[in-house]
Amino acid sequence: MSDLVLQLKKINKYFGKTHVIHDVNIDFRKGDFVTFLGPSGCGKTTLLRMVAGFYEPDDGEILLKGERIERIPPYGRNTAMVFQEYALFPHMNVFDNVAYGLHVKNATKEEVKEKVKNALVLMQLEGMEDRFPNQMSGGQQQRVAVARALVMDPDVLLLDEPLSNLDAKLREKVRVELRDIQKKMGLSTIYVTHDQSEALSMSDMIVVLKDGYVHQIGTPQEIYFQPKTPFVADFIGTTNLLDVTGNGKTEVMYQSVKIPMEREVKDGQIYCLSIRPESLFLSFSPLEENVNIRVTVMNQMFLGEKVRYFVQDDFGKEWIIDMFDPGRTILEGELYATFPAEKAWLIEDLKK
Ligand SMILES: Nc1ncnc2c1ncn2[C@@H]1O[C@H](COP(=O)(O)OP(=O)(O)OP(=O)(O)O)[C@@H](O)[C@H]1O
Ligand SMILES: [Mg+2]
Repeated sequence: MSDLVLQLKKINKYFGKTHVIHDVNIDFRKGDFVTFLGPSGCGKTTLLRMVAGFYEPDDGEILLKGERIERIPPYGRNTAMVFQEYALFPHMNVFDNVAYGLHVKNATKEEVKEKVKNALVLMQLEGMEDRFPNQMSGGQQQRVAVARALVMDPDVLLLDEPLSNLDAKLREKVRVELRDIQKKMGLSTIYVTHDQSEALSMSDMIVVLKDGYVHQIGTPQEIYFQPKTPFVADFIGTTNLLDVTGNGKTEVMYQSVKIPMEREVKDGQIYCLSIRPESLFLSFSPLEENVNIRVTVMNQMFLGEKVRYFVQDDFGKEWIIDMFDPGRTILEGELYATFPAEKAWLIEDLKK
């Protein structure tokens, strides 16, 4: 247990009568970069604010290094949060904004100078010490807010969409550097985003949330390849979801098509299958040892390294199929969507 820095246990939160966080349990290992991922309004900021102490849970426990903290105010716990709306002090210049928390902690002048300088270098803000927030772009202000949290050397660093105002290139650059420094410092971090590629590329663990419920906690690979619910499968990346029924113990039926399963299924039970566009192939004739489904090409999109096909099967369902390294070939008409059965991931929990 000692490698856990933070634990959320059966956390519930209401705003008035609205139940916005439902029985959330999450363990955070020390030094991990954990991402909260989910659509707008799913409760990411609310959870983060409870960890930081700006909201109290109505029910449940929050343990920081083993100690209950859910009733302790923000200044009484060693967390640092960067807000979605970054909240700098408008009357202070960059240096003083970043140094603020250190003064509160009674750091020496030298310490303050050195820590602020390091944080500003890190966030590529050197030379901006004397500027005021209203003299900076949104992206620059956001980086000041991250610097201000970093200097505090918190037990847990809480970042609520901290890069949303940066252009794509700078965002990627700061993201790599942030991850780098986080790893070097062994800084336990919770990062909020609704950008799935950001979550997949940066995280040790991802927590997928929807409507205040945790749908899945796992590594990026687990979340991508072994989604627990249709929602997770669909929200992370692109996928084809099929409603299927258990047929005996070893296969499921999609309409009249039999699909063998490696895992044992229950006869008559309804399941969902997730098949990624990159696991499918369009073929002129059925392929042996594969599942083959007759389809008609409805539309296609040339994307350079691949062509994305939108096809419809004989049962009226639309599929997305990616064909890589396509050259100039564009397929048309009636074909077979074909895939090895082991590429179909079986989902039991049907939460959408
Ligand atoms: N202070 C509040 N009073 C009442 N309802 C609130 C309050 N703050 C948040 N909510 C509601 O709680 C739910 C979760 O909101 P939250 O801000 O945590 O979502 P989020 O996942 O951070 O969304 P976004 O990605 O848009 O920032 C939403 O339905 C929201 O309307
Ligand atoms: Mg939010």
